[in-house]
Amino acid sequence: MLVGVGLGPGDPELLTLKAADTLKRCDIVFVPGRLAAQLVEPYAEPHLLEFPMTKDTLVLQSYWEENADLVAEHARDGHAAFGLIGDPNFFSTFTHLRRIIGQRHPDIIIETVPGISSITAFAARAGIQIDSSFEVSDGSPVIDRIILKARRPGQIVNELGNEGFNDFTLAQKLYTDDEEIIKGKENMPKRADYFSIIHARKTRER
Ligand SMILES: C[S@@+](CC[C@H](N)C(=O)[O-])C[C@H]1O[C@@H](n2cnc3c(N)ncnc32)[C@H](O)[C@@H]1O
Repeated sequence: MLVGVGLGPGDPELLTLKAADTLKRCDIVFVPGRLAAQLVEPYAEPHLLEFPMTKDTLVLQSYWEENADLVAEHARDGHAAFGLIGDPNFFSTFTHLRRIIGQRHPDIIIETVPGISSITAFAARAGIQIDSSFEVSDGSPVIDRIILKARRPGQIVNELGNEGFNDFTLAQKLYTDDEEIIKGKENMPKRADYFSIIHARKTRER
């Protein structure tokens, strides 16, 4: 099994208890850089993988494949972790690594432990409060939307469908005993709990 572990934005005190526990339990922990290595060190010996910053796609691909094969080799028979800055599912090296492992080693089970992302952490340091809809961009086209307070999922996905969104996930009461994750427009209930989030994606634009 492979676990992508979010290490938070850089402060060792902003690494979660679950992340620390996962790092301690894993047989081997890989990291993509020195800051991630420092954050892992109190809990496990970090193994630094090289991901060169080059535009040569052939060189890049060979590094990615080599790293993916190495991580998969350890994840196949044991528990491997990959620690990274912020959260593993937002603009992360882990997303690319996960995709390549999925293509080359589809038998590997992959999970993630969320981390405090720079997307939320910056607000605390910069004294900024967000209380209405906002956009996060790295310059690429917008294909995802996240709706909070999604109490009327059926109505929401119908409206988003008219805007070109075609892939939907409803998540309720996450990380509690009553957690529920529902996928697909046709399965959306009329009503949901206040602690509900809908993720919508335009898959055709990928
Ligand atoms: C590849 S993304 C990694 C995002 C990360 N997975 C997350 O959840 O925060 C790298 C970008 O995240 C932002 N970032 C990450 N850590 C940061 C920090 N400690 N301070 C400011 N920006 C940060 C910067 O915009 C940086 O260019």
